[in-house]
Amino acid sequence: MHKKRLVLGIESSCDETSVSIVREISKNDQEILSNVVNSQIKIHEKFGGVIPEMAARSHSMVIDKLIKVALKKANIKLDQIDAVAATAGPGLLGGLIVGVIAAKTLASVLNKPFIAINHLEGHALSAKLEYEIEYPYLLLLVSGGHTEFTIIRGFNNYKRIGTTLDDALGEAFDKSARVLGFKYPGGPEIEKHAKNGDENKYQFPKPIINQSNCHFSFSGLKTSVAQKVAANKKINQKFKNDIAASFQKTICDILEVKTKYAIKEFTKIYPDTKISIVVAGGVAANQKIKKIFNKIGEKNNYNIFFPSLYLCTDNAAMIAYAGLERIRRGKTSSLTFKPKPRWPLDRNAIFLKGKRLNE
Ligand code: KG4
Ligand code: ZN
Repeated sequence: MHKKRLVLGIESSCDETSVSIVREISKNDQEILSNVVNSQIKIHEKFGGVIPEMAARSHSMVIDKLIKVALKKANIKLDQIDAVAATAGPGLLGGLIVGVIAAKTLASVLNKPFIAINHLEGHALSAKLEYEIEYPYLLLLVSGGHTEFTIIRGFNNYKRIGTTLDDALGEAFDKSARVLGFKYPGGPEIEKHAKNGDENKYQFPKPIINQSNCHFSFSGLKTSVAQKVAANKKINQKFKNDIAASFQKTICDILEVKTKYAIKEFTKIYPDTKISIVVAGGVAANQKIKKIFNKIGEKNNYNIFFPSLYLCTDNAAMIAYAGLERIRRGKTSSLTFKPKPRWPLDRNAIFLKGKRLNE
């Protein structure tokens, strides 16, 4: 076999700066040698959300140090690196520029290939860092900026079959958490409070649940939470816990129904394939959602994969790995590649945000 490749990956599309070194073990196997993350939560939590300029500034201040730490933890010298991958979109432009410039600079100095990675491809493949998963599989990507069902037909062969028409699921968690006075990011806070709440206490709407497609809409749900909070005079801990639990249950119900429709689409294309579902992105860190999917898997004999927590939220290991998969196929990027704030995984997918769909 050829020399085992070492790929350095950089992630800086939102509020985590991360650098990782991934080493190829064989044609189909690889290991994470290091994955260091600098979270900006402390910077943004007082504003209740990510401030793009502050995010970019923080990325630029820590990136060179993180590169050194990632190399040191991996026990690798910079000149051993065979390729440099960076998230080049979608995401916040300032942050993307920091990561892409750092990666292009390293690649030029080392005279090694630069690989521009779609952040969503990183999430889509993240579970393959830990599990052997055959193509095709069904991906449910649920993060702060994206919510979609995509059929991963093969590497670089993605067919989106469902998306959100308004808010991303992580956004719905964050916005609902905010009206409850929880700190940013709201997803983990909702999950924590829900543990002590009554999930049947409040009924929230499940927008477009009866449409026979696997699209989502969450903005009405978020508004309903805000109205419930505004109408309540006694906002004590119990009230907050019950709202959090009821909200989380509503999300689980929606995901369960929409997954049935997604499976229907999947089996239309692949009638004889055993179904594997990968749930990835920050919201996949939610243990209640994981439990629901494991139950769906058991009942229907589907394979269900959730990446480990550190691979669900933003990380550079998934970016370095996507870079390795690209370089295995001889795909590299030009040093003139421009970061793309909007960059759908499925190039043919129609932009549906803000659209109304007919029943
Ligand atoms: O993938 P990610 O780290 O960043 C993006 O690419 O957006 O996802 C961040 C999102 C945030 O909205 C956060 O609230 C949500 O993931 N999240 C969770 C949990 N942990 C993170 N949502 C629900 N439950 C969790 N435990
Ligand atoms: Zn992400």
